[in-house]
Amino acid sequence: MSNSKLFAPAQTGAIKLSNSIVIAPMTRSRAIGNIPNDLMATYYGQRATAGLIITEGTSPSPNGLGYSRIPGIFNQAQVEGWKKVTSAVHAKGGKIVIQLMHTGRISHALNLPEGAQVLAPSAVKPAGQMWTDTQQMQDFPTPKAMTGEEVAQAKAEYVTASKNAIAAGFDGVELHAANGYLLEQFLSPISNIRTDNYGGSIENRCRFVLEVASEVAQAIGKDRTGIRLSPYGVASDMPHYPEIHNEYDYLSKELNKLGIAYIHLVDHSAMGAPVVPLAIKQTIRDNFKNTLILCGGYDKERGEKDLQSGLANLIAIGKPFIVNPDLVERMKNDWEISPDLKADLLYTPGEKGYTDYPVHV
Ligand SMILES: Cc1cc2nc3c(=O)[nH]c(=O)nc-3n(C[C@H](O)[C@H](O)[C@H](O)COP(=O)(O)O)c2cc1C
Repeated sequence: MSNSKLFAPAQTGAIKLSNSIVIAPMTRSRAIGNIPNDLMATYYGQRATAGLIITEGTSPSPNGLGYSRIPGIFNQAQVEGWKKVTSAVHAKGGKIVIQLMHTGRISHALNLPEGAQVLAPSAVKPAGQMWTDTQQMQDFPTPKAMTGEEVAQAKAEYVTASKNAIAAGFDGVELHAANGYLLEQFLSPISNIRTDNYGGSIENRCRFVLEVASEVAQAIGKDRTGIRLSPYGVASDMPHYPEIHNEYDYLSKELNKLGIAYIHLVDHSAMGAPVVPLAIKQTIRDNFKNTLILCGGYDKERGEKDLQSGLANLIAIGKPFIVNPDLVERMKNDWEISPDLKADLLYTPGEKGYTDYPVHV
């Protein structure tokens, strides 16, 4: 393993990493009242030997808190809560960025705080249902189409949340433009049927994402700004459309012009989702000069292979980090990696199935 890239120090933008292994963002629904807490600080602190941690999806707005018990970063109590998390990770020499996830139409009024609304680019109802703590599974509602003013307000919320993240001690911000949430809802011509300059052409559909990325980069530094994308992903009712390749070709060129630190690509084919063609990964790799993070079904061998070939600069790993807090050490030393994911405890409150997975002894 002397030529290993996986365990070699790395850098993305201004963030220096002790190895090339990233913890993928994972919602765990432990933020009671949408405020990060000591339990979450323990969880992230346990995993600080990863080169970089990307937090669970965190809302920049009361309107983006679509799931039960997900955290926000739009008020002072949330900033104070997140300080506990960033301190726990930094005390162990780790690095941590926050994923900003505005759920948009993947939401329910029962999950939102008083006065918040289910907003989306257009009033297009997603198929399916979601969990609510008070009335269990519920159909997704039809969202309210955002007015021009609400689009501007959402943009401002991303900027304020990013500044809050830096105040809370984060090393950077990842914009969640994947998996069917608000930013991707603007990208797709199925969820976005607007007739103003945020809908219609590829350029118009990418406008909101690019404006948010540009304004966040200006506010906190392009070298501390990343984005997650899921071309050909279908999560949260995002059917394929004919222009996908061209759209992500354009988007990745424009993101390259902004000079942000990284693009983080999702490929959920290992979880049964449709295959993400290698061609789109290659196109984005060619268009985008800074860090490319790949994620989805990686183990040590596949991660090393994609780093060595230059397809990826960093490898993000999700589920194995839930079960193995010391995954980096286990991979490095070829220790056993436990497959024992307690799926029924992924989103339940409390420490069970969260902070009680043991390290290798
Ligand atoms: C419990 C759980 C929660 C997740 N939450 C998020 C999230 O908040 N934001 C996100 O972008 N992806 C989320 N994902 C997707 C992961 O980041 C990752 O893409 C996926 O698990 C595939 O990587 P893996 O095969 O290494 O697990 C979640 C996945 C799991 C298993």
